[in-house]
Amino acid sequence: MAVKLALAGVGNCASVFLQGLRFYSGAERRGLWHPNVAGLKPGDVQVVAAFDVDPGKVGLELSKAAFAPPNVARKYVALTKSRVSVSAGISKGDAAPHLRGTKLQKANSEEVANQLEASGTDILVNMISSGSDGSSEEYARAALRAGCGFINCTPTLVQRNNKLVADFQKARLPLIGDDLMSQFGGTVFHKGLLSLMVKRGIKVSKSYQLDVGGGSETLNTIDEVIKMAKRESKTASVALEVPYKFETVAGTTDFVDYMGNDRTSYFWFEGSSFMNVGTTVDVYLRSSDGANAGNVLLDVVRATYRCMKIGKLGTVGEICAYGFKSPPKPMHFDEAYSKFAALYVK
Ligand SMILES: NC(=O)c1ccc[n+]([C@@H]2O[C@H](COP(=O)([O-])OP(=O)(O)OC[C@H]3O[C@@H](n4cnc5c(N)ncnc54)[C@H](O)[C@@H]3O)[C@@H](O)[C@H]2O)c1
Repeated sequence: MAVKLALAGVGNCASVFLQGLRFYSGAERRGLWHPNVAGLKPGDVQVVAAFDVDPGKVGLELSKAAFAPPNVARKYVALTKSRVSVSAGISKGDAAPHLRGTKLQKANSEEVANQLEASGTDILVNMISSGSDGSSEEYARAALRAGCGFINCTPTLVQRNNKLVADFQKARLPLIGDDLMSQFGGTVFHKGLLSLMVKRGIKVSKSYQLDVGGGSETLNTIDEVIKMAKRESKTASVALEVPYKFETVAGTTDFVDYMGNDRTSYFWFEGSSFMNVGTTVDVYLRSSDGANAGNVLLDVVRATYRCMKIGKLGTVGEICAYGFKSPPKPMHFDEAYSKFAALYVK
């Protein structure tokens, strides 16, 4: 049985995901968080269609597009030639800063829906640039039209679009998101340390997280509007771990081109304990964005497929809370993991 995926956005995250599918297509299990999710192995996942608007990627066969500039993700494994070529995608006049001034390769929502149907896609995974909110919502509508599930890795808040949510419910299709939470990225690391401080009785007063990275996504995120949207999503997710008001800022970003797909996140925490004696923590985390997304995305894809095929749409909330920073039903990260694992991890 194969889970048939379409990818919107063949950027760095997609590049490493495709490499992961190749890496785990046989018996290799090193680095794989959950070999079996919902009865499915990584080898059960297949990409059958892909969309982008960058003229340097549209028309390229997928194994070439995955490494086409401006992608900077490392080549961990060689990709085999794919039967899929990148097709023109949807753009609603909200191109990411790094694509502005480029002649975009566009298709309308109906054309994309037709391709989803023709390729037999089960789930469309949205990995387009941050900040293209209208385009992300239009991909969700194209998925709906084609009878596909939709996974939104971008920070666009499709879950707050009541009409879209109701239409997916009516069609009995899963709408999953928003804003993928990496396996061990800045957000979950920040949440984890806050949670530990709270559990050990430290009264947290302040924290911040400053991210520095390379790649086009980071470049786009220094745009003031996109930066604030991303910061809102990360800050709300982090604040959930502390049961009282405190001051926190998560996800202020800067761009250093030679960092490629890597990121350094700097954290600072201030709290107090016995007799109000102060405690501070200064730490940093080094990670690589694409690889950090891989395990969670692979888990979410497999769980979404299962919930779609057996009509278990009541568990959409648990999938979202496990894998995303802005889910419809936010939960503490450890509670979200336990619920997801109880439902889907064998
Ligand atoms: N760890 C992670 O990588 C991670 C974690 C959380 C969220 N995300 C989200 O995933 C998305 C992808 O991240 P990335 O690092 O791969 O970004 P990226 O900039 O490397 O890639 C984005 C790709 O989308 C394409 N694109 C832009 N607008 C498009 C449109 N309208 N239609 C089709 N393609 C379009 C770009 O040409 C590019 O190929 C971002 O929204 C990011 O916020 C990633």
